[in-house]
Amino acid sequence: MYLQLREHIEQRSAKIGVIGLGYVGLPLAARAAGLGFSVLGFDVSAEKIAATNGGQSYIGDVPTPVLAELVRVGTLSATADVARMVECDLLVICVPTPLNATRDPDMRFIEHASDDIARSLRPGQLVVLESTTYPGTTREVVQPRLDQAGLAVGEQYFLAFSPERIDPGQTSSKGWGVDNTPKVVGGVTARCTELAAAFYSQITSQIVPVSSPDAAELTKLFENIFRAVNIALVNELACSATAWA
Ligand SMILES: NC(=O)c1ccc[n+]([C@@H]2O[C@H](COP(=O)([O-])OP(=O)(O)OC[C@H]3O[C@@H](n4cnc5c(N)ncnc54)[C@H](O)[C@@H]3O)[C@@H](O)[C@H]2O)c1
Repeated sequence: MYLQLREHIEQRSAKIGVIGLGYVGLPLAARAAGLGFSVLGFDVSAEKIAATNGGQSYIGDVPTPVLAELVRVGTLSATADVARMVECDLLVICVPTPLNATRDPDMRFIEHASDDIARSLRPGQLVVLESTTYPGTTREVVQPRLDQAGLAVGEQYFLAFSPERIDPGQTSSKGWGVDNTPKVVGGVTARCTELAAAFYSQITSQIVPVSSPDAAELTKLFENIFRAVNIALVNELACSATAWA
């Protein structure tokens, strides 16, 4: 299972499924398709599926001519038919995690996507969660749902977390884009980490493997918290400076 999937990934013959074609999912889908992978995007939005299949981009980071060409040559298409997840060797979950009324992450999108995958999970598939979420999500929310399929994680199917760190509007020519932003990868087992790293090492130039999905989940939160604290600090200074002026 492991060696066959690894070979498919390295030879770019693996079929990639991207679940959630938004700010994170569409650029990833376009990047993988541009590298020659066959990519199938999944979304619950009929408008986004129609736009993608029509080669019309709705995300600034993916120019319409680039998307149109990928669709024309047949490396990228989109569907709402979750039964087609079985066709994919790798499934990347890029669904939203908005805060709910109590300012806790709304996990329903991740739960829904995980249940969809579980219904047709087959031996030899790698699942990667990219959505921003709290440490423990991959093991405590995603894995129990996938385990319902009766396959052994790390042996028959593989599971990892790799946070999306893109900054929409940025590109590698301006600094950091999907192709040069370092990617942190943490798998449930060592083989899960290796397979996810094998995929992302084709997408971007630097991979940072970590010990577990929980560690990878924490790096993303730490980065966001670090940024928020610094923004607050600078705002405080700006307010004080205004008061002194
Ligand atoms: N936008 C950013 O700058 C950014 C950067 C880093 C990380 N993230 C994180 O990445 C995740 C995705 O964010 P985004 O900005 O791409 O969100 P988005 O709202 O732009 O896109 C999410 C897509 O998922 C689809 N979707 C929802 N439920 C689905 C389901 N069950 N199956 C298939 N598709 C489904 C939605 O229709 C939508 O098209 C979030 O957790 C977010 O916090 C976002």
